[in-house]
Amino acid sequence: MGKHDALFEPMTLKNVELKNRIAMAPMNVCFTGPNHVVSKQQTAYYAARAMGGTGLIVIEAVGGTDHETVKTYEAHNNLMLVYPYQAADHSELVETIHTHGAKVICQIAPGAGRQGSSEYSGIQPVAPSPIPWAPQEEMMPRGVKLEDMAQMMGLLGGSSTLVPETPRELRKDEIAVLAEDMGKSARLARIAGYDGVELHAPHGYLLHEFLSPRSNKRDDEYGGSLENRARFMCECISHMRQALGDEYLLTVRISADEHQEDGFHVEDTIEFAKLAIQAGADGIHLSDGSYESMRYFLPDTDGQVVDESGIIKAGIKEGMGKDYPVICPSVHDPDLAAETVAAGKADIISQGRALIADPEWPNKVREGRVKDIVRCARCNKGCIQRFVLGLPSRCVVNPEMGQEQYIEKYNTRPLLPLKQRVWKIPKEIQ
Ligand SMILES: Cc1cc2nc3c(=O)[nH]c(=O)nc-3n(C[C@H](O)[C@H](O)[C@H](O)COP(=O)(O)O)c2cc1C
Repeated sequence: MGKHDALFEPMTLKNVELKNRIAMAPMNVCFTGPNHVVSKQQTAYYAARAMGGTGLIVIEAVGGTDHETVKTYEAHNNLMLVYPYQAADHSELVETIHTHGAKVICQIAPGAGRQGSSEYSGIQPVAPSPIPWAPQEEMMPRGVKLEDMAQMMGLLGGSSTLVPETPRELRKDEIAVLAEDMGKSARLARIAGYDGVELHAPHGYLLHEFLSPRSNKRDDEYGGSLENRARFMCECISHMRQALGDEYLLTVRISADEHQEDGFHVEDTIEFAKLAIQAGADGIHLSDGSYESMRYFLPDTDGQVVDESGIIKAGIKEGMGKDYPVICPSVHDPDLAAETVAAGKADIISQGRALIADPEWPNKVREGRVKDIVRCARCNKGCIQRFVLGLPSRCVVNPEMGQEQYIEKYNTRPLLPLKQRVWKIPKEIQ
C-alpha cells in the first residue's frame, strides 16, 4: 500500500465516476470576461488544473438569478447562468475540462446578501433581516486587512473606513423567485453538460445569512427555529432537484461552523446537512467561517476543517442511517489529505489555493513526486489580495497563474473521438 493510495481510489459520486478523491475547490479568481461570459483565460486556467490530474473541478460561484441582489456584487464579475444563451460558452468550458480527463460541477449562487454593496450598483443589499455584517480585524486571514475587505465589498463609503451597510429585508415573494431561479439555473447547467451542480450556501452570503441565528431575526417561517432558517436553502434544493431529475448529481456547500458565539456551530451544521439531503441533495461540500470570520474561510493552517468534517460526516450517517459523501477543503499536505480520506473523515479533499500554486499537485502525488510540489504559502498575496480589488488573481509561487491563456499547452485540446461527439440531451430535459 502506498502512502497516498486512499486519494487515488476511484469513486462514484451519485452517478459520476471519479478517478480520484481530489477536487478543485470553487474559486472566483476574477478571470470572467465582460458581461459575465467565460473568458479564454478562464478556460485555459481550468484546463491546466484538469491536466494536472484533478478528478473533479467545482467551478467558481456562478450567479443563478438576475434578481437585483447579484448587482450589488458586480465588482467581482461572477459568471452567470440565467439565460439559455449563457449555457453556450459554459458548454465549451465543460468540453475542455472533460477532454483533459476531469469531471466538473457548476456552483450556483442566489446572491451576495448583506455582503453586497450599493456603492457601485446604487442598489441596497438584501438579507434575511436588516442587520449589517460586522467583520473583525482579528478574524482576518494572513495578509488581509479590514481595509482591503472594505475595498472588496465596495464598502469604503467615500473614505478608507469600513462602512457596513444596513441591508433591507428580503420579501417572501422574492425568496420564492430566487428559489425558482436556482432550479432554472441548475437546468441550464445540466444542458451545458456539467456533471453536477452545487448550491452555494457558505461564507456569509445570502443563504448562509438565512442559516445563521446571528443574521436571521425573521419572525415568519424563514426565521426562528433551525428548520425555519434552513427553509430557503431547502426550497432552492427542491427546485433544483425537480429541474434536474432524480439521477443527476446535486451537492450543497455549507460552512462547517461560523466561529461566532451567537452563530451556528458544527452540531447545527449536521442538522442543516440532514435537511439538505432530505430536500434532495446528494452530498455536502464543507467550507468554514464567513467574511466575519475570514481566517476560517481562508485558513492559515493546514487541515483546519478535517475534524469538523469527520464529526459532520459521522453525524449525518448517524442521523440518516446511511453514509453520504462529504467533501473537505484546505488539506494541502498530501499525507494528511490521504489520512483524512483513509480515516473516513471525508470522501474527497477539495484544493483551492494549493491548485493555484501548483496545478500538477495531483499528478505529482500520484507519481510519488511529493517533494516537487510547489507549496502554497497561504500568504493570500496574489490570489485574495488582488481578488479584493476586483483584479485577476496571481500567485507569488506560481508565475504561470493568470497567464495560462498565453501558454500553448493549456490552449490546445485533442479532438474528441467521433463516438463521443454524438451529443446526448438528457431524457428529462428533451
Ligand atoms: C480567490 C478565492 C476565491 C474563492 N471563491 C470561492 C467561490 O466562488 N465559491 C466558494 O464556495 N468558495 C470560494 N473560495 C473558497 C475556496 O473554495 C476554499 O474553500 C478556500 O480557499 C480554502 O481552501 P484552500 O486552503 O485550499 O485555498 C475562494 C477562495 C479563494 C482563495
